[in-house]
Amino acid sequence: MTFQPEALPAALRRQFPLLGRTVHGQPLHYLDNAATSQMPQSVLDAIANHETTARANVLRSVHFLAEAASAAYEESRAECARYLGAGVPEEVVFTSGCTGAINLVAHSFGDGRGPGDGRGPGDGLGPGDEVLISELEHHSNIVPWQMLRQRRGIVLKALPVTDDGRLDLTHLPRLVGDRCRLVALTHASNVTGAVTDVASVVAAARAVGAKVLLDGAQYAAHGPLDLPALGVDFYAFSGHKTFGPNGVGVLWARGEILADMPPFLGGGEMIRRVTIEATTYAEPPHRFEAGTPPIAQAVGLGAALRWIRGLDQAAVQAHLAALTRRLLDGLAALDRGRGLIRVIGPGDLAARLPVVSFTVTGAHPHDICQILDRHGVALRGGHHCAQPLMDRFGITGTTRASLACYNDAGDIDALLAGLEDAMARLRVGTGASGLSNP
Ligand SMILES: Cc1ncc(COP(=O)(O)O)c(C=O)c1O
Repeated sequence: MTFQPEALPAALRRQFPLLGRTVHGQPLHYLDNAATSQMPQSVLDAIANHETTARANVLRSVHFLAEAASAAYEESRAECARYLGAGVPEEVVFTSGCTGAINLVAHSFGDGRGPGDGRGPGDGLGPGDEVLISELEHHSNIVPWQMLRQRRGIVLKALPVTDDGRLDLTHLPRLVGDRCRLVALTHASNVTGAVTDVASVVAAARAVGAKVLLDGAQYAAHGPLDLPALGVDFYAFSGHKTFGPNGVGVLWARGEILADMPPFLGGGEMIRRVTIEATTYAEPPHRFEAGTPPIAQAVGLGAALRWIRGLDQAAVQAHLAALTRRLLDGLAALDRGRGLIRVIGPGDLAARLPVVSFTVTGAHPHDICQILDRHGVALRGGHHCAQPLMDRFGITGTTRASLACYNDAGDIDALLAGLEDAMARLRVGTGASGLSNP
């Protein structure tokens, strides 16, 4: 599918039924894609088709529907592998989401005691072993490691963040030492939009034999990846942020690492043989998929990744860069040099996603979002599950606009007009506070 840039959003929007609705009598301007993106018709159809023609449990029964469901489930795994550039589908583990995937690594890789020979990646981390995260992480990539610290006595370190909301990689030599076993960082920030320089991170980790986990929750929606070439060991992302359904996500890991890792959850289908005394486990990926998996969701995720692969990636990126520029310029114009609107993140377009967070002096993000909602503009306000980052900037929250390929200039202009209204109502810059005309 090749689009002319100006025709891009119109052609894409038509594929998303939900974008046609109104809210509060206004056309919907959906700019909360970092929280959840919408699903195109092809994904909705794939889910409905599965549920109406092939609904059954997978990898258990041998009847016609069960075989069809299993084939669809495994074909989605293969589609995920293609999207990620994975060598084999067996490197793809379906999880409940990005959070589930990171917790899986924290438990299986972190606690260890895998089936290996006592010298492999599945041996687990012990007292004094180090995990490096950053101040930029979503709580999903902080809390599981703090819990591991409680269980195993590891040392948790954090990379600082620069004033423009990027990881400060100048601290890598200081923070990645001989005891470092894992560097677990976001591929792109859900607050500042900054994209991580993965090559530098991988080089630092490799020098000391540490593994690298990337939290791809935000980045994964922005086109197919080549994870082996990127040089990372683990990659986690969610279906609902990649134009797919919620309730499903992916952990990709290098085959030799997965093979050495013990299971996290126990139950049906992750076993080879169970007796009352003991259990032996299935090979990956099924070792890590205990119980009935989210089958229709996995099918929908496969359809979503297929849909993304069908896009003209260069055209989409150029379109989103232009919209991000329009938004950054519009915020600066609205501020009129008064220093009231502060962008928390890079002011340029280099190595950043179309995620723009800002604060407005004297106005709470929730109040801004509520007023914008009456304009039909869906934003997110708050700490974005990144409280350490809020602390770093000395704020309690931001207002965030996060764009997807179906957004257009009208969405940005509606946001800016709504924000101007919100600033007037909230008497921003007047020295007064509160709503002037609630
Ligand atoms: C960077 C990042 N990591 C992890 C997550 C957690 O994703 P989920 O709630 O889908 O598991 C999010 C969700 O916003 C995120 O933005």
